[in-house]
Amino acid sequence: MLHDLLRSEDPTEASRLTEAFALDVLMGLSSAPKHIPSKYFYDDIGSRLFERIMGLPEYYLTGCEREVFERQHQRVVEELSGEPLLLVELGPGNGVKTRLLLRALCERSQPFRYVPIDISKSALSALLDSLETAFPGIEAEGIAADYLSGLRWLTRGADTRTVVLFLGSNLGNFSGAESLVFLKSLWNMLKDGDLVLIGFDLRKDLDVMRRAYDDSEGATRDFNLNLLHRINRDLGGDFDVDGFRFYSTFDVHGGSITSYLVSRAEQSAYIEAIGRRFHFGPWEPIRTELSYKYLESDIERLAEETGYTIVARLYDARRYFTDSLWRVCKGE
Ligand code: TRP
Repeated sequence: MLHDLLRSEDPTEASRLTEAFALDVLMGLSSAPKHIPSKYFYDDIGSRLFERIMGLPEYYLTGCEREVFERQHQRVVEELSGEPLLLVELGPGNGVKTRLLLRALCERSQPFRYVPIDISKSALSALLDSLETAFPGIEAEGIAADYLSGLRWLTRGADTRTVVLFLGSNLGNFSGAESLVFLKSLWNMLKDGDLVLIGFDLRKDLDVMRRAYDDSEGATRDFNLNLLHRINRDLGGDFDVDGFRFYSTFDVHGGSITSYLVSRAEQSAYIEAIGRRFHFGPWEPIRTELSYKYLESDIERLAEETGYTIVARLYDARRYFTDSLWRVCKGE
């Protein structure tokens, strides 16, 4: 079953979403330096492009986190055993990693309900279909919504023990301040003793990190350029997409891979839904994404500042990536 909180067949809801997109683009392109919020990467086309990125050898994150799950999911399962469980996953993608966890829970006859939350409806339906084939009789339902709205809707008044999976390196796409707000909002919706499992991409050799975000096949380039295509499609923009080039770099000081679309020449683009024309100077950048790479001390500080206790730290053999299991701590 799929609960669609985005309800795009409802014309008022659909226009509200388009309006939010238009406002974010207006705000981002009116700022200096210009930027576009990265959550708009993931429309149906963008989600498919990201699938392709996840299959590239240069994008080590996918393989590393899969290894973490293959080698160490029992450690997580131990913590989850007991009373019935609400297993929520924020941005599940294709669910390869989650499947390992679900299988282990089924083998232990651990009762659970699995609820993926994602803004891409097509990704959700595909995931639910494949889970129903792999685990006949599984209790699973999807929520098409942004993470926090979906979770708020789901956990309102619920007293089931809850585990939230936030895998990949999704948190790394937030700024420092946004991460704190997000983790604290999550904490507010959860109960004492609930768990969260969060993926963190760790700091490593600079070239390894850079190549993951500028692959030789150009999948990452297309993924970024899709933002401009999307503005053209959804907001009636007239961006000359070929007039921009993709560029990404690791900012050693700030600690993140930063991705840009850079205007190759002086140009402008009109966006109908905003009713405005935006100008771009030669080589002026639009920042599209921050992908933060964590030090261990960053992870400890985040947990501590937002009210969680670290229960387990799981790594791949090269220590490129970690999934960190945190317990919500609401005691005095
Ligand atoms: N969450 C992914 C990450 O930060 C998103 C991503 C992968 C991405 N490749 C990208 C974002 C390239 C911008 C540019 O790893």
